[in-house]
Amino acid sequence: MTRVIIITGAGSGIGQGTALTFAERGDWVVAADIDLTAAQRTLAGTTQPSAHMAVRCDVSDESSVQKMVANVLARYGRIDVLVNNAGILISKPLHLTSWPEWQRILNTNLGSVYLCSAAVLPTMLAQKAGAIINIASPHSFATTTNIAAYAASKGGVVALTRQMAMDYGRLGIRTNCVVPGAIDTAMLRSDIAHGDGVEASLAGWARVQPIGRVGQPADIAHVIHWLAGPDAAFVLGAAIHADGGMLAQLTPATD
Ligand code: NAI
Repeated sequence: MTRVIIITGAGSGIGQGTALTFAERGDWVVAADIDLTAAQRTLAGTTQPSAHMAVRCDVSDESSVQKMVANVLARYGRIDVLVNNAGILISKPLHLTSWPEWQRILNTNLGSVYLCSAAVLPTMLAQKAGAIINIASPHSFATTTNIAAYAASKGGVVALTRQMAMDYGRLGIRTNCVVPGAIDTAMLRSDIAHGDGVEASLAGWARVQPIGRVGQPADIAHVIHWLAGPDAAFVLGAAIHADGGMLAQLTPATD
């Protein structure tokens, strides 16, 4: 049976890499993104684009999410895996974060996990099977200065992952999250596009990650693919660190 995989934020970065990985390995991919053209571009990189589905979906909007899931069910009739990947970043301290900015970050990064999961759960519960993989962040566990809303949203993702694992594990649905380190994507590049410039900042990230390099979307996509499959059948409620050792270090190595 061919699995049906919904990946949010599949138009760029980690979501794009994840869509390509699942498609290459024989699954049907639903590339959901607020930017439909970007989602279509991702699928154009697969060997059989017409087997997959690109959908415009704003993951922070309930009716948009419900419409996306209804379209997926109308076409494929099942949903095996949901990857809650779409996210946005604003680097500001709390007192400079406006209420609309706070709401936009929380709704996109955490509200989306609620909305998309709530929309697919009736189907997964009826199937008595499913896997939900949320994308957290090192900021879920430790942090740097000036990233209040993002850190709060990603802390919430880990808490909600645990909760969903408790509530649905016995019913055949495994919920886990992945904690990526610094991954070379549009999000990281736009966050560091100041000061020393992007290439110098990327080199800086490579130095502070004990593995000695910045991650690529495929580094995370492969972990997501494993978590979604039978080899991870006993993994539930976990936060899998795929961060090049970032959270393992107390201070960066000096040599
Ligand atoms: P990216 O900016 O390259 O891609 C994000 C995608 O999400 C874009 O295609 C964008 O159009 C889409 N998107 C944004 N808002 C949306 C909405 N409301 N509805 C639907 N789609 C929307 O970002 P990247 O780096 O690939 O990030 C993916 C996830 O990984 C995010 O949750 C991010 O917080 C997380 N992450 C990324 C890290 C990194 O270093 N790049 C590190 C740790 C976590």
